Amino acid sequence: MANRSPYEPFRDLSSPNRNICPVTTELDGSGRLMVGGCLLSQLAERYDTPLYVLDRQTLRSSCVAYREALKKYYPGESLPLYASKANSSLILSNLVAAEGFGLDAVSEGELLTALRGGVPGERIVLHGNNKSDRELYLAYKNGVTIVIDNLHDIERLANLVPKEGNPAQLMLRFTPGIECHTHEYIRTGHLDSKFGFDLDDLEEVLLELKKSNWSVLNGLHAHIGSQIFELDPHRDLAKVMAEALQMARKIGHPIKDLNVGGGLGIKYIESDDPPSIQNWVEVVAKAVFEECLSRDLALPRLMCEPGRSLVANAGLTLYQVGSQKDIPGLKKYISVDGGMSDNPRPITYQSFYSACLADRPLDPTEETVTIAGKHCESGDVLLKEIALPSCKSGEILAVFGTGAYNSSMSSNYNRIPKPAAVMVDKGHSALVQRREGPEDLLRYDIFPEAFLELM
Ligand SMILES: Cc1ncc(COP(=O)(O)O)c(C=O)c1O
Repeated sequence: MANRSPYEPFRDLSSPNRNICPVTTELDGSGRLMVGGCLLSQLAERYDTPLYVLDRQTLRSSCVAYREALKKYYPGESLPLYASKANSSLILSNLVAAEGFGLDAVSEGELLTALRGGVPGERIVLHGNNKSDRELYLAYKNGVTIVIDNLHDIERLANLVPKEGNPAQLMLRFTPGIECHTHEYIRTGHLDSKFGFDLDDLEEVLLELKKSNWSVLNGLHAHIGSQIFELDPHRDLAKVMAEALQMARKIGHPIKDLNVGGGLGIKYIESDDPPSIQNWVEVVAKAVFEECLSRDLALPRLMCEPGRSLVANAGLTLYQVGSQKDIPGLKKYISVDGGMSDNPRPITYQSFYSACLADRPLDPTEETVTIAGKHCESGDVLLKEIALPSCKSGEILAVFGTGAYNSSMSSNYNRIPKPAAVMVDKGHSALVQRREGPEDLLRYDIFPEAFLELM
């Protein structure tokens, strides 16, 4: 971990995924951190902590970067979709729809959030390797494109679509045999993945679907992973997808959409160096274009599904510093008032984050400490090693890059209520998700007195 504030280093304002902080981050006259024109410590005081903060301008810049790069580098039609698993809420659904995005959902909850947030059904795709009948029917009824993941989806839908009803709009997901880790990737014939059809089974499924009188197969989908910094796997993916497109059209499916998934990485810590959104889109778009051209295929509408690279750097979490424990010669723990229930990524994936004191981001660092959460779990550590000025109980710590896969993966472990979320822009702040209280946690408990008396 570098001894600099995450606020300081290099900035690439045109591609938010390459900055640790939101693009509007600045200092006030006293050297305190502001985001979206709002002083972070004031937000903490007004809305309490832990607090998720989302910067509208950063989200908007990411959307614009994807949209404009698609226009610039892809000569055909395109539609970026927000992978709402990254952070699903009414406000985010609404804002991405206003930016011309569609949305990808994977459950009834995400689907309802998108529809009520104002995303038109025709711009939503429903994923999932084990969709329920309710999820399938809700999607069908709203004209949502259903991503067929397996034979079970086909059997369920064949029963659900009414005889005289409109055909279901389908996309087919397959595993392209490309496996990515952040700094390496492999191509294999088969992938150990629970999602999608194996490439070897693709032709048979396409032939089977051709017999259906209840559906139209409009698109093909593949997704190769997340937090990816390399561009070559996406070139390889374009080739595999163009081959699949050729096969599907030859069989007679009117495929118009090619959905290449998401996966572009972001900068969590200083050593992370992801490609820019523009660069990623350029590589993907040119590869799809060239692969289609070389096979004489009419250009499909190009879809992609960014999640993390759209929202992660728009977000940060504010915590209040509490107790400290110094173990001489070993380490010093600083505990905050949240932890693995509002950010399960460090304990689940050993992920790294950057942080600083909200009111003293540029103060010289004095010690290397471990930021611990408040949960009853030794592994509940948010940052393993971070250099900070020595700090006091009550100070506000800002942890950056938490806009994706934090709120959406949060839990009530230890019966700790979930934080509130606020959106900031041009000096204004608004609550977009209210804070849970202890009463919310008791709402679903039932004390069956009559039943207990029987025993
Ligand atoms: C099918 C699908 N599409 C899109 C995404 C979004 O990926 P990311 O957040 O890395 O852009 C995911 C996440 O894993 C996914 O499973």
